[in-house]
Amino acid sequence: MAAKTKFLFFSIAGIALALQIFQIDQTLPATNPDEEFHVVANPPDEIVGMLKHACYDCHSNNTRYPWYASVQPVGWWLQSHVNTGRSELNFSEFGRWSGEDQADVLRHCAKLVKKGAMPPKDYLRMHDDAILSEEKKSALITWLLERADVLENPHAKAVSFTQQEMPRDTCDDPDGNPRCCFIGMPDKLTTTLKIAPDGEPGQRLVIKGYVYKKDGKTPCRGVLLYAYHTDATGAYTRKGDETGIRRRHGRLHAWARTDAQGRYAIESIKPASYPKSNISAHIHAVVWEPGKEPYYIPEFEFAGDPFLAPEAVASAKKNPGRSGIISLGKDAATGILTGRRDIVLK
Ligand code: HEC
Repeated sequence: MAAKTKFLFFSIAGIALALQIFQIDQTLPATNPDEEFHVVANPPDEIVGMLKHACYDCHSNNTRYPWYASVQPVGWWLQSHVNTGRSELNFSEFGRWSGEDQADVLRHCAKLVKKGAMPPKDYLRMHDDAILSEEKKSALITWLLERADVLENPHAKAVSFTQQEMPRDTCDDPDGNPRCCFIGMPDKLTTTLKIAPDGEPGQRLVIKGYVYKKDGKTPCRGVLLYAYHTDATGAYTRKGDETGIRRRHGRLHAWARTDAQGRYAIESIKPASYPKSNISAHIHAVVWEPGKEPYYIPEFEFAGDPFLAPEAVASAKKNPGRSGIISLGKDAATGILTGRRDIVLK
């Protein structure tokens, strides 16, 4: 080698070596599991599998860095792709967006997958497992579009059913379809069922808890809750203009919808047991998981109630997620009764 070429060779090798000092940070960002796409949108395993292989390297906090990410400047180039990808769309933060935003994103994904724009072509050259067959592509697109509709309006189908196909009168039946309980539900719901208005006679009561799926540990988002109870005299008092099932349930009722963590709360007064009865005081409650049928869960009852059956108390201890008996405490400062109940769905 001529002296000049030699100099050039060692200079380039030296620079290349020096570049390796500036490694990219391959630590994965901290992730809140409740916000992950696969927790919030509850996709079937094959859909999660496709997204994990084809999209997650750039659009989630779960990037799988290849070995050449440690070779600079390739690593810098990869990291800038990952950073741009994450800033455009991060599936690990899916739960932070509103239902409408989530729906928009999924529809946009469906469009880009259909066009073949995502995953990017240069990425596919290095990742065989990210290539989606035509069949897989169409399954993914169909699922994305259908789930977008559900996320935007979790109960659209259910509500139109109750209004169009549920004759009012059948809802005046004590054993009527639990869907009747959702007629008249407001469009905007929070996680709190505010049942008794401020100023209602009785002891104020707050119950909080989580709704879990059947496995008893996965929080269930978007579950509708309906509850009603007697007033402090033990009667289902009415305003007078009630229709349908409310002619039985009376004025003390409310609805709520669980959030991404499955949270709900009841704010009300403690109901009294029916006058001259030996039935314990209770709150009736119905749950409606998206895509399923609503049903009554065991009533909320209060430990220490003289009319509680001892068997019920014993079985509540064994299986708290499926029992409604709760122990009330009292907030020393406000005097409000407080309780906790986690609900495990069927
Ligand atoms: C190699 C990294 C990489 C992979 C893999 C990848 N993307 Fe992207 N994606 C990007 C980058 C970079 C951008 C932003 C620049 C752009 O639009 O090209 C982006 C943008 C997007 C956007 C927003 C585009 C816009 O117009 O706002 C969506 C939606 C998207 N990707 C969906 C997907 C889906 C769905 C997959 C899997 C099927 C996927 N991406 C796979 C890197 C990637």
